[in-house]
Amino acid sequence: MAPLTQELETGVPAIDAGNEGLRFLLRRVFQPGVECRRGEGGRGECDHSRCTRIEAIMRYAGRNFAVQERVMTEAGYPAAERHLDDHATLIDRLSVMLNAQVCADRDGGKVHDLVAHWMTEHARHCDQPLGRWAVTRRVLDPKR
Ligand SMILES: [Fe+2]
Repeated sequence: MAPLTQELETGVPAIDAGNEGLRFLLRRVFQPGVECRRGEGGRGECDHSRCTRIEAIMRYAGRNFAVQERVMTEAGYPAAERHLDDHATLIDRLSVMLNAQVCADRDGGKVHDLVAHWMTEHARHCDQPLGRWAVTRRVLDPKR
């Protein structure tokens, strides 16, 4: 599986905590029975549609994005549109997997790597520039 890099922190705790939460979820969510209806530990009711693991990742990511998007909108962040588009890209790709009946139990590596790869690129090209801008403009307190 693709590594979950931790080197891409922004220095803004409000952003880094959300991203750390997503990394934590990705380390846990593919373990047996976690957020899964199939197999050992699951409830055994999986009809192979709408994978509950993919839905759990989408829910967490959606909440995390909403926090960042509120900060960007309220502060008038100049690169907000590009940043929001990149958030939407991850949700769209996960939706495609969900609707294509990808199972994160059978194909966990595929789902994990999609999110891990996106996270690395997104941190480098979107969250880090947002963090630098927020700290410079004092939009977000770097100590909080
Ligand atoms: Fe972001």
